[in-house]
Amino acid sequence: MIRLTLLVIFVASASAVSVIFEDGPCPQFRPMSDFDFNSYGGTWYEIAKFPNPSEEGDKAKCTLIEYFVKDFRGKMKFTHVVDGVRKYIEGDLTQVYPGYGKIMYTYTFGGKSKNTYLYVMDTDYKNYAVAFSCRYFKDNDKHQLLSWILSRNKVLEGNALAAVDKFLSANSKLINRSYYVQNEHTDEACKARTTEEITEFFKMYQTNPNLVD
Ligand SMILES: *[C@@H]1O[C@H](CO)[C@@H](O)[C@H](O)[C@H]1NC(C)=O
Repeated sequence: MIRLTLLVIFVASASAVSVIFEDGPCPQFRPMSDFDFNSYGGTWYEIAKFPNPSEEGDKAKCTLIEYFVKDFRGKMKFTHVVDGVRKYIEGDLTQVYPGYGKIMYTYTFGGKSKNTYLYVMDTDYKNYAVAFSCRYFKDNDKHQLLSWILSRNKVLEGNALAAVDKFLSANSKLINRSYYVQNEHTDEACKARTTEEITEFFKMYQTNPNLVD
């Protein structure tokens, strides 16, 4: 039963797609309400993601998100391993509206800041979370879809996996699970020769001034 569910969530994505684009503006959606930002703090392991440029398509493995939350603000650290190099980026966190799972990340490099937004769609705080985001590229009238399945553990299984499956089934119009690629947290996937800090904005922001998060 559990095995079957796993297969259903992670339809093996062997494609080389590195970004999920669809035509037109972003779909309408709202983050979780009754969201408790303090309880959401701590470490999350990325179990699966929609491939995206910030994570080098589907190449990044061993991806960790750490939140240090106090009231409506905090710090975040995002770490992953690409081709044997552990890379991390640090930023500031703000809960945009009290009680809602809309989180703003702020990255500051060379005195310039950029904000990006992440929407927590479902979580039980202790085991799993499903996050979503969408970016509208005005110039070519397309939107990029982003989603992540997160876990407090290196694997997602049992009731937590069943809860994620249930959420995705109920929201299949918004979050197409066939786009997910699975992450890995094995010793092999996490092995790194060196560690580097990411200290510049992703190219996407430099080449798309009209990007709307
Ligand atoms: C999900 O994406 C796949 C691959 O692009 C597509 O074939 C399928 O129709 C999509 N499903 C929904 C519900 O949009």
